[in-house]
Amino acid sequence: MANTVRVRVPGTSANCGAGFDALGLACTIYNDLKLTLTKEENLTIVIRGEGAENIPTDERNIVWRSVRYLLEKARADKDYRGARIEMDNRVPLSRGLGSSATAIVGGLKAANVLLGNRFKRHELLEFATDIEGHPDNVAPAIYGGFTVSTLSRHHVDTLSFLPKLKLRLVVAVPDFPLSTRAARQVLPEKVTVKDAVYNVSRASMLVASLLRGDVHRIRGAFGDALHQPYRAKLIPGMFDVFRAARKAGALGASLSGAGPCLIAYLLEKDEAHEAVGEAMQREFLAHEVNAQILQLGLDTKGAHVLHS
Ligand code: HSE
Repeated sequence: MANTVRVRVPGTSANCGAGFDALGLACTIYNDLKLTLTKEENLTIVIRGEGAENIPTDERNIVWRSVRYLLEKARADKDYRGARIEMDNRVPLSRGLGSSATAIVGGLKAANVLLGNRFKRHELLEFATDIEGHPDNVAPAIYGGFTVSTLSRHHVDTLSFLPKLKLRLVVAVPDFPLSTRAARQVLPEKVTVKDAVYNVSRASMLVASLLRGDVHRIRGAFGDALHQPYRAKLIPGMFDVFRAARKAGALGASLSGAGPCLIAYLLEKDEAHEAVGEAMQREFLAHEVNAQILQLGLDTKGAHVLHS
């Protein structure tokens, strides 16, 4: 059995507005991972690109922890005690584009391939959700496309689909990080039925309009009352950037995951994408935030092995 594998995992954008902790999509930006399992107890981790300076390269490394998790599940942790891990990262760190999900899914997927695909994809989803705590980033990283996930105490389920509306994604990446923990701390313990209904209806409308290809109805489907209003204070100018994106031609915009990235949704064929990116960048600058613009599409494959 080979003891080295290379896998590619897409970055993700969770929530998509109203689908807090439930909806997600995979983007055409990728982290690559090369894993070699060794019998000896030594760990070498090499990181290039995003996070090269701040991701731990010892036992705390999340790729390694995910590899260990899978080895333990397969009862192979005594056979393989060490590893060499090489990461080529393009997904910005702590920005709301699922960089930790890529690490978790990459570690699980690579270790699973090296064990002869002992576990099925939905089992990797359960493991990844257990490590991450919620499924909305790990699900699209595994399956690709647009994902709807449900989580109950002992079970996670995901349906992935490719929307009839072909989307282009314009992402504004602010020059400051924001931890998911900090962005969850500002959320209220309880919400009103009115706000819950606001979100249930919009998340449902978003999925229905993507599946039906309804350009008209999708415009009203990105609103949210459960997390964005509370997180706005952590991201200067958030609602103004949303407005600027819509004014420049986007169908809608939302916080990407827990932020601070903001994501605008356009039709793939729409030529306004450059203007939308410039408008978002300008509006952020008006609030003294420097932001880089990424022009992305929807990844359709999810995590997969790279054959060289
Ligand atoms: N659904 C999560 C949140 C995504 O918004 O907190 C963060 O990874």
